[in-house]
Amino acid sequence: MYQEKVKVLWNDKVENEYYRIGLTCHRGYSGAKPGQFIMLHFPGPIAPFLPRPFSIHRIIKTGGRTAGIEILYKVVGEGTKKLSGCKKGDIVAILGPLGNGFSFLDHYKRIFIVAGGVGVAPMLFLASYLQKKGVEPSECMVFLGGRSKDDLLCSDDFLRIGMKIHLTTDDGSVGDQCFVTHPLEIALEEDRPDIIYACGPLEMLKCVVGIAEKHKVTCQVSIETIMACGMGACLGCAVERKETSDNYMHVCLDGPVFDASVLHL
Ligand SMILES: Cc1cc2nc3c(=O)[nH]c(=O)nc-3n(C[C@H](O)[C@H](O)[C@H](O)COP(=O)(O)OP(=O)(O)OC[C@H]3O[C@@H](n4cnc5c(N)ncnc54)[C@H](O)[C@@H]3O)c2cc1C
Ligand code: FES
Repeated sequence: MYQEKVKVLWNDKVENEYYRIGLTCHRGYSGAKPGQFIMLHFPGPIAPFLPRPFSIHRIIKTGGRTAGIEILYKVVGEGTKKLSGCKKGDIVAILGPLGNGFSFLDHYKRIFIVAGGVGVAPMLFLASYLQKKGVEPSECMVFLGGRSKDDLLCSDDFLRIGMKIHLTTDDGSVGDQCFVTHPLEIALEEDRPDIIYACGPLEMLKCVVGIAEKHKVTCQVSIETIMACGMGACLGCAVERKETSDNYMHVCLDGPVFDASVLHL
């Protein structure tokens, strides 16, 4: 884990509220795992005082060497608004890579990936990681859901990798008009993957976990909590462990990826 000041390589608007920012960091990121995150301190001397967590979206390579990381973010409040104003060449401070990341076992061949909204951010990194691990992309099905077409990001990237993709929107502007969990449930009636990886809003994750339990499929979920430190010091990111109500885990240290069977969502 490194604390470093890094340069902004680009900060491009992707859709209405979504941006991709490239950062020059390289120390320690060549071995980063999908699902790991950074804590980013915003530029300038004033608020927001606390750093904010962001998943690693992509490792930037130049000439085969790790040259930086890319973050995909949605503007939701003060910090991300400020971040959206960053220009190429600006300096931000980051701490990372943090957390555990998704785990992969060699016998995983058939894989379902479920992403809701900006929850897709770590899943593109996961998709390229799986490919490097020898998973056949056509054996992977990506279920991508959003409120509207503007919230469906990275579909072309998954297709380029060769993964099959199922799109849903709440308003029907693209794909099927339903929650992303609906086609997941249908697909599970016909096919049983080795694992489901999921990231997105809490309500979506609860539903994915319920479906995975019903179909007895292993499931890993990446969850979001408010984080003040990202390294176990503030205890603000506690989540309950299943069936032992007095037993808490910390998303920044024990997660953000959890086996669905241990979490009380
Ligand atoms: C491990 C982890 C990885 C994350 N990865 C990404 C990512 O790749 N891309 C991305 O866009 N966002 C990601 N997030 C969420 C991101 O950290 C928040 O959107 C960000 O902190 C908001 O900061 P802000 O100052 O703009 O908003 P604030 O002014 O702090 O908050 C604005 C609103 O957003 C809510 N909010 C803030 N943080 C969260 C959160 N973590 N979960 C739910 N609601 C929140 C607040 O309650 C408030 O209503 C991640 C969060 C975690 C814990
Ligand atoms: S964010 Fe501070 S302990 Fe997890």
